[in-house]
Amino acid sequence: MSSLSAVAKAMVAPGKGILAADESTGTANKRFAPLNIPQNEEMRRKYREMLFTTPGFGDHISGVILYDETIRQNDSRGKPLVQVIAAAGALPGIKVDTGTVPLALGGPDEKITEGLDGLAKRVDEYVKLGAKFTKWRAVIAIDEGIPTHRCIHANASALARYAAICQAGGLVPIVEPEVLMDGEHSKHSLVRSFEVHEWTLKHVFEELSNADVRFEEMVLKPSMVIPGQKSGQKAGAREIADATVTVLMRWVPAAVAGIAFLSGGQGNEEATLNLNEINRVARERKAPWPLTFSYGRALQQPAIGAWRGDDANVKAAQAALAQRAKMNGLAALGEYSPELEKQPALVRA
Ligand code: 13P
Repeated sequence: MSSLSAVAKAMVAPGKGILAADESTGTANKRFAPLNIPQNEEMRRKYREMLFTTPGFGDHISGVILYDETIRQNDSRGKPLVQVIAAAGALPGIKVDTGTVPLALGGPDEKITEGLDGLAKRVDEYVKLGAKFTKWRAVIAIDEGIPTHRCIHANASALARYAAICQAGGLVPIVEPEVLMDGEHSKHSLVRSFEVHEWTLKHVFEELSNADVRFEEMVLKPSMVIPGQKSGQKAGAREIADATVTVLMRWVPAAVAGIAFLSGGQGNEEATLNLNEINRVARERKAPWPLTFSYGRALQQPAIGAWRGDDANVKAAQAALAQRAKMNGLAALGEYSPELEKQPALVRA
């Protein structure tokens, strides 16, 4: 087995998933603002240190996606945060896209992700800083008349170029084509979400294959097939799991090392319940890959809410993160039940 496929396998190890802590400075500040947490580099550093030093961090977290600012920071004693993560038994990774801009000649609100220029050089630097994997997020929105073919094609092709460059540079790419689930469009039904996922995944894997990306050395980070959150439509966990596993089994090659979902604005426990149901359906249908989490908001929300920037709240915030990591670790095995949320031992600070 190549070293990259060993890393990819470790990222989706049984009962473990990925913590997405790669919010750009702007997004991190947006999360801090409503909690009156000062929006500066030191507070972002403290917050991330608090997350990564959670007791038992590596029990259910296989890897952490960092932002460029964080991969260069040290803990309060001067030890690089990358080493703090490794000492906790998790793999450090890095977001390498530079964000989205409006897609030229695309439909209204369509975006393309940038960051290919100079990427090989940045990959070399991140390898030296200790990164083992990378992430690139493409965004596909659903609305009247969109997505367009141009948007899906342009994003799939950028994802493939990114993945090839990372593998050539020695890092495992997380390929993230996110079909947004926060659309307001009344026609953003489960069926429409399924169609757009199908269209997107088909093109992403066609482009990855054209670029000779090695599937064993990558992790797919998809969205779940869910009706638009403001569409007025609701679907149960079983329906979501059925649709999600169907579309993945149709378009994702069995050689892919694993699948790690984004949470995309789902409620914390909703994201856990859906992942659990997906694993149950996947087991029934003998899906070929491990299916786990790579959550940002659904792992961090309770922790940041408990922390509020106050050192006195560190233990409670870490307990909140440990709780979500443990629950999602169980969901990655299909062994979660909402009853487990109430076990007092898990929420003690
Ligand atoms: P969410 O789980 O909050 O959607 O974030 C995951 C992520 O990394 C998005 O790129």
